[in-house]
Amino acid sequence: MTVEQIKATIASIPDYPKPGITFRDITPLLQDGDAFAASIEYFAERYRGSQITQIAAIEARGFIFGAALAKALNCGLTLLRKPGKLPGEVLSQRYQLEYGSDELQIRADSLDKNDHVVIIDDLLATGGTVAAAVQLIEQTQASIQEAAFLVTLDELPGEQKLQQQGVACYTLCR
Ligand code: PRP
Ligand code: ADE
Repeated sequence: MTVEQIKATIASIPDYPKPGITFRDITPLLQDGDAFAASIEYFAERYRGSQITQIAAIEARGFIFGAALAKALNCGLTLLRKPGKLPGEVLSQRYQLEYGSDELQIRADSLDKNDHVVIIDDLLATGGTVAAAVQLIEQTQASIQEAAFLVTLDELPGEQKLQQQGVACYTLCR
């Protein structure tokens, strides 16, 4: 399956969840077994054979792709979660969204300097979410290979924001 065919399974919903936002809905992609499997295989091809120890996945939609990719690469899965979901000591980072603000947390002991991580999420928009993820992972001393997305919204500054943080960006669809 080509990237264009995968992209064609993503729906665009006008004015959701707020007027003026075009929501890129990945649920039809997930319901198409071939498209979901192919998207994971594109990511897996990119990282197979590299020294990645953990896929760091962002709640909630990032978990879907992160878990499947970690399984395909036979590496670990580190969860970056919304507040109040992780037990023990956590590191926290607030951030702005295209449609609000939120917070991400990581277990303080989940990564260390020996970890080499790929961050994954379904979509890059303003870059606020992944910037928070980068800040959290940097605090653990782990190294970040790059951040990977199913979709990047070209009209928003997410990629530039990542660049400013010194993190490379890989995206399947634009
Ligand atoms: C969406 C998406 C990304 C983020 C991208 O998540 O899954 O995580 O927004 O936006 P940004 O680049 O402007 O930060 P959302 O917070 O809607 O949560 P969900 O995954 O729980 O649906
Ligand atoms: N997260 C942030 N912006 C989004 C959008 N336009 N569509 C889907 N998820 C998003």
